[in-house]
Amino acid sequence: MAPHDISDRADCDRLVRAFYGRALEDPIIGFIFVDVAKLDLEAHVPRITSFWETILLGARSYSGGAFRPHAELHAKVRLREGHFTQWLNLWSRTVDELFAGERAELAKAHAQRVSQAFLARLHYVPSYVEPTPLTTGLTVTQHGPRAR
Ligand code: HEM
Ligand code: HEM
Repeated sequence: MAPHDISDRADCDRLVRAFYGRALEDPIIGFIFVDVAKLDLEAHVPRITSFWETILLGARSYSGGAFRPHAELHAKVRLREGHFTQWLNLWSRTVDELFAGERAELAKAHAQRVSQAFLARLHYVPSYVEPTPLTTGLTVTQHGPRAR
């Protein structure tokens, strides 16, 4: 059966759960949900589902304030452009796998806008961690004589 467009809350729920199935295991952003935010998925999924139901289906189930938890996260992990890029990759892939149509396109486009807006706003939010390279597991060491 050809994929249909996102058309009700159950579709939003399915999309969000499929996305988190990936995001939590992702080598680049997974740790942010699992180790840093210690996300309670069953509490979180209905909120995110409402967010998308509001954007895509005109429901009024989400009351706003999406930026704030990201500012709090940023204080702990310093969210960088690469994290958002990866978030968007996973989101777009999940949308495309499950749905097709105008709302599916809107889901991807709006995620991109929100992502850009969050990244721009985070610029003004303090982070208490030093910038680190995006990929962990490699340590950069310096050898040779020390500059005097
Ligand atoms: C169908 C129409 C739309 C609906 C229902 C909608 C809904 C929403 C909702 C619920 C949020 C989250 C707000 C929050 O939690 O604070 C949001 C954020 C945002 N939307 Fe839309 N949106 C729509 C169209 C658009 C369009 C056309 C644009 C730009 C061309 C746009 C750009 C943004 C941006 C940049 C944010 C992030 C704002 C921020 O927190 O910095 N949206 N939208
Ligand atoms: C680097 C990328 C991102 C990461 C790591 C991330 C992570 C998180 C985490 C851990 C939470 C839960 C915070 C808490 O309640 O403790 C959260 C909440 C949320 N995120 Fe993100 N997020 C990212 C990008 C985005 C983007 C691009 C969007 C929108 C398109 C988004 C939409 C939301 C919404 C709507 C909530 C719920 C806010 C509420 O409780 O009302 N996130 N995010």
